[in-house]
Amino acid sequence: MAVKKLKLQSQPLLIPDGLHDLPTAVMLYQKSTGEIWANSYFESSFGPVSPTRFEVQKNLHLIHERPLQNSVLSLIGRHEGYVLQNNKNVKVPVSIKITQYGEANQETFLVMVEDVTEKLALEKEVIQNHIELQKAFEQQKNTQKALLQTSKLASLGEMASGIAHELNQPLQAILGFSQELDHSEKLSPQSKQFMEEIVNASRHMAGIIKNFRLFVRNSNEELSETSIQHVIEESVTLSKHSLMQKNIDVFTHFASDLPLIEANPTEFKQVIINMIGNSRDAIEQAGTARGKIEITAEHKKNTIELKIRDNGCGMDENTRQKIFDPFFTTKEVGKGTGLGMSISYSILKKMNAEISIQSEVGKGTEFTITLPILNSNAKGAKL
Ligand SMILES: Nc1ncnc2c1ncn2[C@@H]1O[C@H](COP(=O)(O)OP(=O)(O)OP(=O)(O)O)[C@@H](O)[C@H]1O
Ligand SMILES: [Mg+2]
Repeated sequence: MAVKKLKLQSQPLLIPDGLHDLPTAVMLYQKSTGEIWANSYFESSFGPVSPTRFEVQKNLHLIHERPLQNSVLSLIGRHEGYVLQNNKNVKVPVSIKITQYGEANQETFLVMVEDVTEKLALEKEVIQNHIELQKAFEQQKNTQKALLQTSKLASLGEMASGIAHELNQPLQAILGFSQELDHSEKLSPQSKQFMEEIVNASRHMAGIIKNFRLFVRNSNEELSETSIQHVIEESVTLSKHSLMQKNIDVFTHFASDLPLIEANPTEFKQVIINMIGNSRDAIEQAGTARGKIEITAEHKKNTIELKIRDNGCGMDENTRQKIFDPFFTTKEVGKGTGLGMSISYSILKKMNAEISIQSEVGKGTEFTITLPILNSNAKGAKL
């Protein structure tokens, strides 16, 4: 049977009454003739339409300048990201929904247009609120972390206090008597060597106990006007010998306008010495031929930003997470008590300072300490 091919004839656009007064902006577009009709809501919102209105990009185009042809009016589906000139000649963002109208072979499309200015503004506000909520949540998480750290320190502190006290008495006796014996003429060279070992080991223990005590001391030690530069320079001088032995260079840079801070200089020195010591150990562990520690201090608004950077072994995520935990150490037995950073943390907390870490295994570590500056403009630190 022969199939007769029908040539499609364009029918005139028939506009049903209901479309005229629809309280939403609607157009009908007949592709074959290019004929466009808009209802009164459309025209009162976006101005009159003509067959040429959407031929040029300037009236209806993508925000990102994708050229738009009339052909978009026959793309069935929902389209976002277009702007359309409204009746006040202002380009407003619109959402367009296009459906087939009538018989498919007529290629007529119903184009619904919605001004989404307010919707987008609302969306923006919701996103903004979400970001702020997220920020507040992060802040709360950090506060919780800090609180947890503080309570851990407090309970461990009580325990360490008792142990330190009990151990210190007999240890002082061992140290005193062994030092006496060490000086005795009657000892054989070998006994003298053993005695020296005992004295050294006892001194090491005394050092650990001293750390315990510093850790637990509910220090009400006076804070005073302190120059960061003096503290750091003294700490570097005190560490110099052990750094030289390990081939490590220290570079310091201080901004010329550094204001004073409120600190207990002895405690603050302890923080810096421990951190320099940690960098030294990390460099040694990495086996770096030429170790480098850089310390910089800059004035930033109401704070001083202190950075301590090394090219040591760096830290993995687990170490970074636990670094402030009392007794956490990755060093071999006898080398570290794991108290250095937790003591430093409580000292810095007392100074209202903040500390953050950036570290990568094999690359090195950078600590940033942000210290509030003194309100007064007083010059001349008391050290
Ligand atoms: N600059 C650094 N580079 C790499 N790892 C570091 C650095 N500073 C600290 N750490 C890691 O954090 C751990 C804890 O440091 P912390 O100073 O508290 O204790 P410690 O140095 O091991 O012992 P202590 O200071 O009591 O002698 C270290 O054992 C080390 O693993
Ligand atoms: Mg340490």
